[in-house]
Amino acid sequence: MRNNRKIMIAGNWKEHFTVAQASIYLHRLEEAVQNRQSIEVVLLPNVLTLQPLSVQLDRRKFRLGAQDGYFEDAGAYTGEVSMAMLRDLVHYVLVGHSERRHVFNENDDVAAKKMQAAVRNGIMPILCVGETLQERLAGETNQILHNQLSAGLMNLTAREVSASVIAYEPVWAIGTGEFAKPDQVARATDFIRKQVEHLFGARAATHVRILYGGSVDDHNAGSFLSLDGCDGALVGGASLNYHKFAGIVETAYRVHQERITRR
Ligand code: PGA
Repeated sequence: MRNNRKIMIAGNWKEHFTVAQASIYLHRLEEAVQNRQSIEVVLLPNVLTLQPLSVQLDRRKFRLGAQDGYFEDAGAYTGEVSMAMLRDLVHYVLVGHSERRHVFNENDDVAAKKMQAAVRNGIMPILCVGETLQERLAGETNQILHNQLSAGLMNLTAREVSASVIAYEPVWAIGTGEFAKPDQVARATDFIRKQVEHLFGARAATHVRILYGGSVDDHNAGSFLSLDGCDGALVGGASLNYHKFAGIVETAYRVHQERITRR
């Protein structure tokens, strides 16, 4: 069954760029990235730069997302920025990125609360799931994906899940240059879609977008984007290079054009 899911290319800038640097970089990116309406291009800069970039941004080309957001809307939570504070600035928010899980010890319970806070505030969450190398070698990949998905999506309605995005990001592939093989990505994205079908029904499974992330660049992007069940890419390192990021967007556009002609 062919799908109508719009391909998403999301650039996670992580803890890079000051406000001034982000502005200059966005300027270059806007020159490099072509206006491709059929591809959804999302930028995830640090929280400090969201406000100025939202003014500067060419909305025909890009949407903004946050890298994180706290689940309590307001209160005595020193240092946190809530989803309620982000809601007018961003379309998307990452939830459960592996760096949040492993560097900041966020567990599935926190991810579940953040998912709920995002949808409550009208922000579309991008739930990140994926196994460590140890877990893959122990044959636990599907179990980990099952656990992270069922916890993360808990208490969401089928409709909310349909509008959400899930990013399959094997921890061993993030920032290592060692990207997953396309058949590993195909198996994982198929498994994730089946889990969504099992938990939320066929309609949610058909609509939910599933991305791959982990050392995606302009050379390997095509091999993931051309997989039937892979609806885009979450790009870290390569999103900090406007040539590479623009190249990934063009690859997505080419894949989209090929899909249309095959229909
Ligand atoms: P990477 O990061 O592309 O640098 O591997 C991906 C991510 O963390 O989302």
